Amino acid sequence: MDAAAEQKYNFDVVRWFAVMSVVYLVVGALVGVYIASELAWPVLNFDSPYITFGRLRPLHTNAVIFAFGGCVLMATAFYSVQRTCGVRLWSDKLAWFTFWGWNAIIVGAVITLPLGLTGGKEYAELEWPLDILIAVVWLSYFFNFIMTISIRKTSHIYVSNWFFLGMMVMITYLHVVNSLAIPVSLFDSYSIFSGVQDAMIQWWWGHNAVGFYLTAGFLGIMYYFVPKQAGRPVYSYRLSVIHFWALMFGYVWLGAHHLQYTALPDWTGSLGAAVSLAMIIPSWGGAVNGMMTLSGAWDRLRDDYILRFLIMSLAFYAMSTFEGPVMSLKTVNALSHYTDWTVGHVHSGALGWVAMVGMGAIYHLIEKTYHVRMASQALLNAHFWTATIGAVVYIVAMWVSGIMQGLMWRAYDDYGTLAYTFAESVEAMHPYYAMRAVGGMIFLLGAVLMLVNVIMTVRKSVSEGNLQQARTAVAGA
Ligand code: HEM
Ligand code: HEM
Repeated sequence: MDAAAEQKYNFDVVRWFAVMSVVYLVVGALVGVYIASELAWPVLNFDSPYITFGRLRPLHTNAVIFAFGGCVLMATAFYSVQRTCGVRLWSDKLAWFTFWGWNAIIVGAVITLPLGLTGGKEYAELEWPLDILIAVVWLSYFFNFIMTISIRKTSHIYVSNWFFLGMMVMITYLHVVNSLAIPVSLFDSYSIFSGVQDAMIQWWWGHNAVGFYLTAGFLGIMYYFVPKQAGRPVYSYRLSVIHFWALMFGYVWLGAHHLQYTALPDWTGSLGAAVSLAMIIPSWGGAVNGMMTLSGAWDRLRDDYILRFLIMSLAFYAMSTFEGPVMSLKTVNALSHYTDWTVGHVHSGALGWVAMVGMGAIYHLIEKTYHVRMASQALLNAHFWTATIGAVVYIVAMWVSGIMQGLMWRAYDDYGTLAYTFAESVEAMHPYYAMRAVGGMIFLLGAVLMLVNVIMTVRKSVSEGNLQQARTAVAGA
């Protein structure tokens, strides 16, 4: 039990963010399984507008990216910045404002999205009052983080903090510009951009939400939690710094690869593809850096289940950052765009990389901040396998269905007419959509096991008096 750390740092807010992240993981995955099932068995729409695929899909993406992902990023950044800077958070009150504000936004999303109140921009669906709240709460997170760094006791700023900072700066700027809109009522507004400019701004945001939020932020997590869990320093600190600057300079140029063969000037797509290819180098450099941190200690993977999550996430990170650049090439994109291949790529990044590294870091945090080992190692192991198998089943189903869709849409007969109608291609997808729903259910089962294990661990910490003792040490100090 680390009573001194409990006394010195603000772990309360970290604990709340960590526990809420697990709750949101279960909710987000549950909605994911439901919409996956709706695509396989449309009867599940039940003719109710509130639960149609179109309305629940943004609820799923917002729940997993912003509710689960956001709480993970806030828990891990607030924890690691305190530990790497050797000081308590600059302001406890501001940290609680971030916690309650972020959760209020999530409640706002849960109410407005099923009602169909959306700005219609992907990954930025929420209406303007919530957009303003997002900007304010995000800035409170950013300000507290940077002020904590400014009062640090250490001489240098550890690399994980640079990744978190890069994410915070870029997301502030991207969110504000992409959300600029003229309100016409409390629940409706029009973007100030139109036509091709709107598309360009949307994907400049969309790709960078991937590049800075789902990648740079989660790499910040990787650079702190992999060495900590492995109990060894990061393999190459120099490589991590190169990884950081290469990502910061490279990612902002990629957005146009989402808009190949559209009204955008052709050269913008070529530029997006060229820089996408170049991104393989820093991405793989980073993945290798994380994995090699284990060099000489690979045997730890045999019994350290938390470490398994972290290392498996790096394998998926390497895979999705190879697949993405390949998909950005115009010839490949001509086949993959509009198909399920994109959805497969998304979930190899989302389930394999983002969720795996996030879940590994949250397990680590729960152990450290509740001063106890996870209550059930068997559940931890079962979660690792269900998450891995669920992700692989999902991704394989989407690769097959995506490539099949692309090939069916471009097949011609001897007379030069389309060989298949669109409806035939939809029908052919059914087995793969069912398979994806099953993969999702396996992944969801793992998330439920995590929630059960976390509840058991918190109760264990309370019943054994560990948390209480650590807190009493605070009072006695
Ligand atoms: C049980 C697990 C999950 C299931 C069953 C699931 C299912 C789905 C389905 C059916 C879609 C709609 C695909 C379409 O429009 O054709 C979707 C979209 C999406 N999901 Fe998931 N999902 C899961 C977990 C996650 C997680 C953990 C994340 C992120 C961390 C995530 C991120 C996304 C994103 C970004 C999209 C939009 C994809 C696109 O526009 O191409 N999902 N998901
Ligand atoms: C160097 C790294 C990467 C590159 C170059 C890249 C490239 C691409 C490309 C070309 C597309 C398809 C665009 C289209 O045809 O519409 C795409 C879609 C997507 N990628 Fe990646 N990707 C990378 C890594 C990742 C990672 C790590 C994630 C993590 C979750 C991710 C998440 C997504 C999402 C969410 C979409 C779907 C966007 C949408 O249509 O809604 N990507 N990516």
